[in-house]
Amino acid sequence: MEHIIIDTDPGVDDALAILLAFASPELNVEAVTIVVGNVSLEQGSVNALKLLEFLGVDDVPVAAGAVKPMLRGSRDARSVHGDTGLGEAVLPEPRLRLDSRTAVEVILQKADEYEGELTLIPVGPLTNIAAAVLARPRIVEQLERVVIMGGAFGLTPYGKGNVNSVAEFNIWHDPEAAQVVFDSGVPLTAVGLDVTTDPSNQMSKEMHGEIDGLGTERAGLVADLYRGNVMRRGYASLHDPIAVAAVLAPDIVGVERHRVDVECVSELSRGQTVVKRRFHRPADPEEMNVDVCVSVDGERFLGLVMDRVVRGVS
Ligand code: BDR
Ligand code: CA
Repeated sequence: MEHIIIDTDPGVDDALAILLAFASPELNVEAVTIVVGNVSLEQGSVNALKLLEFLGVDDVPVAAGAVKPMLRGSRDARSVHGDTGLGEAVLPEPRLRLDSRTAVEVILQKADEYEGELTLIPVGPLTNIAAAVLARPRIVEQLERVVIMGGAFGLTPYGKGNVNSVAEFNIWHDPEAAQVVFDSGVPLTAVGLDVTTDPSNQMSKEMHGEIDGLGTERAGLVADLYRGNVMRRGYASLHDPIAVAAVLAPDIVGVERHRVDVECVSELSRGQTVVKRRFHRPADPEEMNVDVCVSVDGERFLGLVMDRVVRGVS
């Protein structure tokens, strides 16, 4: 059983990631920590509380973290995730309350509690994780690993940007935080757009229609989360749950190890995750810092979503 913390900016696909994690017997969710990103910190916190209440979970702390990126202003993604961040899903106002600790306090305390056995799954900008690393650099030795959803690495035909030509939203939103995490020495896996926008891992219109037709409360929630995205584009990328799947079933992804740095200076390419691959000077294995996902077993992944989240069987 893996002890995990989901650090998130809910968000439609963040919501699906949370639902998948709680539906997975391989994972013990120790906390949900919130970061600004897709929506404000306040809205993201309410969304997480609503989701836990929907699941009937009242014993997992939800702790709020960064209200803005380390050095920059924030820009939400409500054009993708809807005004509330949860697409067309409407959940009751939560009775659950936020934990009195900050996200960083919870991350540090859980790292002590599960020394060597805690995995962080950040599926939003890396602001909270960078803050934890800066507060206690040796946390990198206390964590089993960090599996992020973030980056566009150009290693597959799908590794293009979604916020500019070369950058992915989570890294773009707080590139300095991402560089802190990439430089920290923590065992790091990145699930980026190279795999999450591969059509074989996406929700098709047909899959959405099947979910919508099931008529259960769980299926209704998933259908409502994704209705807008699927109606607009005819499909939806399920970015964040792929990071959760990579932890609960590590062999579901294929990885390549690389040296990756984040573009923090240029506005044009802000947030690009630059893979070192110079023609005459390949990266030295010693300097490689990220296992970058380059493939996902899409059938298995979508099966996990359908079985565990939509149908509620594990
Ligand atoms: C990432 O950005 C957010 O909008 C999604 O929740 C996901 O984490 C994809 O670029
Ligand atoms: Ca997210």
